[in-house]
Amino acid sequence: MKHFINLKDISSKELRKILVDAKKRKYARKKLNNLEIDKGAPLKGKLLIQMFEKSSLRTRLSFFLAIRQLGGSALTLRPDELHLSKGGESIEDTAKILSNFGNAFMLRTDSDKKLEEFKKYLSIPIINGLSPSSHPTQVLSDVFTVEEIKKKTISKLNITWIGDSNNVLNSLIAASIKFSFKLNIGCPKNYQPNQKITNYIKSNKNMITIYDNPIKAVNGADVIFSDKVISLNDKVDKNKKLRDFKNFRISEELMKLCPKAIFLHCLPRGTEVEENVFKSKKSKVWQQAINRVHVQKSILLYCLGKLR
Ligand code: CP
Ligand code: NVA
Repeated sequence: MKHFINLKDISSKELRKILVDAKKRKYARKKLNNLEIDKGAPLKGKLLIQMFEKSSLRTRLSFFLAIRQLGGSALTLRPDELHLSKGGESIEDTAKILSNFGNAFMLRTDSDKKLEEFKKYLSIPIINGLSPSSHPTQVLSDVFTVEEIKKKTISKLNITWIGDSNNVLNSLIAASIKFSFKLNIGCPKNYQPNQKITNYIKSNKNMITIYDNPIKAVNGADVIFSDKVISLNDKVDKNKKLRDFKNFRISEELMKLCPKAIFLHCLPRGTEVEENVFKSKKSKVWQQAINRVHVQKSILLYCLGKLR
């Protein structure tokens, strides 16, 4: 049984194996409808239990389709309907029940500690569907999308992130280390990655450069990533933060400085990207979103020991 909590805890070899499987599966079901099941129904009879303590559209839908396409089923729990959220039941007992009823648990939470607590008591795999410190299913899927569009291994590409030092960036940093790709980060000085992250970067093969200037950060980029300046439950002075990021907007002018670059964004979007860039041919955000289904299928297979 394997958990999927942080990319940094999974070997490069296993992450690559997940992507290879996702590519084969996506290709093999080209002519199938969303709810049709992959040949062999590898997760027939399996139940994915998912719970979102924070809003979600894509993660919810993509995990639902992922388990269905593998022949299993999904059940989404509402945290406000559980005893756990009102203090009426412990994580330990909740985890025991989840383990007896289901085969995998996907959790989106505001607490990294809660993921670890669940991991301690579950006897089924836990998947991190976004936490304050990372968004691993999103970023692994984004690596898939980049390679699919650019038709090259990501290690041969220059990736740029323009935006806040948030959960998605943390996972992108881990991906840069695992897949050995160059990553430029463009972010205002006061919002750059914290010491824990910079220490992690330094203690690994460092292909990451942090700039406080978006123009420098996009130089030579094959891919520009961005994300909302204000993340879910971000407890900051929102107006100030938005003002601080005003020079870090993805504009047509910025995109012109890196003519080969495509634009990716995990969604939902805010004001960090101009409408004309978001809706331009360079923007591949819809393809990026649907690929979550394909990669998460292989993540589920990895967790349940069924990866070919
Ligand atoms: N990108 C992403 O995780 O979207 P949701 O918040 O809608 O799940
Ligand atoms: N960084 C964003 C990602 C949303 C999918 C957030 O945490 O809100």
